Amino acid sequence: MGAINTKILLESKDLERCPFPIPVGWFFVDFSENLQTSEIRNIEILGQEWVLFRNEGGKVGMTDPYCPHLGAHMGHGGKVVGDNLRCPFHHWEYNTEGWCKNIPYGKITPPIVKKQAILRALPVVERYGMIWAWYHPECEAPQWELPAIPELEEPGHVKPRRGSWPVNTAIQEIAENGVDFAHLKFLHGSPAIPPAEVSFDGHISSVNMANGYIVGKGYGPGLNVFHFTQEGVTATMVSYSVPITAEKSQMNMSFTHKDFPEGSRELAIAKKLVDHMIGQAEGEESAGFESVDFIVWNHKKYRPNPLLCDGDGPIVQYRKWFKQFYVADPETLAKI
Ligand code: FES
Ligand SMILES: [Fe+2]
Repeated sequence: MGAINTKILLESKDLERCPFPIPVGWFFVDFSENLQTSEIRNIEILGQEWVLFRNEGGKVGMTDPYCPHLGAHMGHGGKVVGDNLRCPFHHWEYNTEGWCKNIPYGKITPPIVKKQAILRALPVVERYGMIWAWYHPECEAPQWELPAIPELEEPGHVKPRRGSWPVNTAIQEIAENGVDFAHLKFLHGSPAIPPAEVSFDGHISSVNMANGYIVGKGYGPGLNVFHFTQEGVTATMVSYSVPITAEKSQMNMSFTHKDFPEGSRELAIAKKLVDHMIGQAEGEESAGFESVDFIVWNHKKYRPNPLLCDGDGPIVQYRKWFKQFYVADPETLAKI
């Protein structure tokens, strides 16, 4: 008997569940309707606490909570005053871009105040009725724009059905499901491993599963749009997971389709497609993600060097694509 390679047997002891930093990208923060004018809210996403506010002009700001003056937490006692967020401690005011706009008592302003924003503020846009923030660990400006999603922005579509689920893993692990074609048969119980094509171009990933049945695109790590088509009827699933901490994510989805006439064949197919996306379709042979994926995600560890076989999907290519969104030291990147 030859010598046993114990490396493979012992490797899992040193594996981490989620060795990933928070990735760069646009991330869903909340629905626009949930943040009123002059409202201030403390939120925890993207690995830290933030103060989210809507100024009197309607613009949304998302800033670091701690005032650059003496460190008060502006989400506790702060106030929206005109365009600005006012710190409760000495009433310094900051706009939605993090510039200090007023120090009510100082005669000599620290020079840096005039040169740059002194409070970290994430770039924020509102699209599809949602608030989105651009996250980059080193505060770099957005590297791409959010895409048009006509189903969420243009009339003629039904009000989206929404879902939101907490998951105890990083968003890379959630999204890897999209290229893990073999698990569709064995975990979800679908009748066969569907044929699929995947391609990557810059921050965009594209997938075509089962010859046009599911066609989707990923726009960075925080937004995926999938179209499910059956008998000429298309339904849309938009998924927008957001990292909460390194090991905790919130998975969010919206489902919609054209506003087909009541009682029509098209409406029945579209509704069934949406049920199928959630895994609740009548007579469905396979189990939806709610019932099976979470069990795996919530407990698995990440293997940076997986043992793959020929039936697996393009997991390595997908991971390589996802890695572009991580900014970290070489030691951290080596574990991903
Ligand atoms: S700590 Fe915020 S104004 Fe002084
Ligand atoms: Fe899955």
